[in-house]
Amino acid sequence: MPMHASSDNQPNPPPLLHLEQVSKAFGGVRALTEISFEVGFGRIQGLIGPNGAGKTTLFNLVSGALKPDAGDIHFDGKPIQGRPGHELVALGIARTFQNVELFGSMSVLENVLVGRHVRTRCGFWGALIRHAGVKREEREAREKALELLAFVGLADQADSPSQDLPFGWQRLLEIARALAAEPRVLLLDEPAAGLNRVESDHLGDLIDRIRDQGITILMVEHDMGLTMRVCDRIVVLDHGRLLAQGTPREIQRHPDVLAAYLGKSPTST
Ligand SMILES: Nc1ncnc2c1ncn2[C@@H]1O[C@H](COP(=O)(O)OP(=O)(O)O)[C@@H](O)[C@H]1O
Ligand SMILES: [Mg+2]
Repeated sequence: MPMHASSDNQPNPPPLLHLEQVSKAFGGVRALTEISFEVGFGRIQGLIGPNGAGKTTLFNLVSGALKPDAGDIHFDGKPIQGRPGHELVALGIARTFQNVELFGSMSVLENVLVGRHVRTRCGFWGALIRHAGVKREEREAREKALELLAFVGLADQADSPSQDLPFGWQRLLEIARALAAEPRVLLLDEPAAGLNRVESDHLGDLIDRIRDQGITILMVEHDMGLTMRVCDRIVVLDHGRLLAQGTPREIQRHPDVLAAYLGKSPTST
């Protein structure tokens, strides 16, 4: 399977996302300490580490859900640290959540439309009021949402309540909703958690196809098979510190990484 075509041709793409000395504490808990790394344009970058390593906190900082205590986060060369989440979505940073967060009683299609509202001129409230100028935009948004559902493999589920979907499909729906915001970087927090082998293979293919659309991916994942298969580069966190970074091959052999995981299988945490 052609996996890394775009990044192999360009071993060192310029950074789309750049963290510099980023720190975050919760009271006495130092969740992240002076973390620096880059995610190059068009990469699929993995972010791994034992539970409590600070992975979700890092996503919360990059997506604007939390502000760093110190350090800089640059997106496409511009500082973004401390800016609110809705501004960052508009800039092109979208995410999914470790615990799937959907609007359960809304249909599958409506969930994708919620993700799209940042790209519609009239916005979510305009769409609710439905004045005349909104109609065409609404039709286009619907077509785009249906395309995205087809892209993730949920075309037949558009009208189902999202809470009726099997769990694995809810994860795909969350990805479709994130893509509806037309991100330049997509943050995936444990996208394979709770998926069976077939579903996680499908997810791997989907992640490749998302990158083929020109979207950069930063992905937290405990499924090492999937991580090693799809990622170009991997960053390892442990107790809030950056332990190692490199290619999947380098990370698999890295003595500090092996030590951090010793006795606690990464797939079981
Ligand atoms: N909102 C919060 N309040 C207090 N402590 C938190 C909060 N979020 C995370 N932490 C703590 O920060 C550390 C890193 O957590 P987290 O980023 O969720 O790790 P990971 O995603 O790698 O499992 C943990 O010790 C966790 O308990
Ligand atoms: Mg987490």
